[in-house]
Amino acid sequence: MIIFILKFIHLISLFFAGGGAIGSAVIQSIYKKEGKVPEPHLAKGFRILAFLSLLAVITMWVTGLIMLISIYGSFNLGWTFHMKLLGASLILIPVAYVNFHLQQASKKQIPPNPKVIKYTTSASRIGLILAIAGAVGTFI
Ligand code: HEM
Repeated sequence: MIIFILKFIHLISLFFAGGGAIGSAVIQSIYKKEGKVPEPHLAKGFRILAFLSLLAVITMWVTGLIMLISIYGSFNLGWTFHMKLLGASLILIPVAYVNFHLQQASKKQIPPNPKVIKYTTSASRIGLILAIAGAVGTFI
């Protein structure tokens, strides 16, 4: 039962992390095409979405680690699992950094650096693909 709950939370968190990423990417691309900077309320919305994504990714790490230890008792599940971990790290680090950057930008009342947004978004997308492909390859 505990594994069922952990896996359920693991996958619901994937939904939150992916939903936040796709939602903000769609809105940002519309603003970029129009050449406009998001107004303060929308910028606050982006910060909340980024924070929710960070919470979701941390939850995936915590539930993933507990499942790993309780079901397999080792990290030695083959190269696909290592790819999954690489992907999960490529999500965690940029998402943590973008949260820090958005908080700093908001404190200084300056717009976020578009390069930071671009590179963190690309890294976390690659990470998501590696992590999902790694999960499918490992647990098939
Ligand atoms: C943050 C990115 C992550 C993504 C996108 C992700 C994705 C997934 C998916 C889709 C599954 C279901 C696979 C299946 O049942 O066929 C899964 C299960 C699992 N994940 Fe993750 N995961 C992530 C992070 C982690 C981390 C960091 C760990 C451990 C250190 C982990 C460990 C596990 C384990 C142990 C299972 C269950 C395996 C089983 O049912 O036997 N995951 N993950």
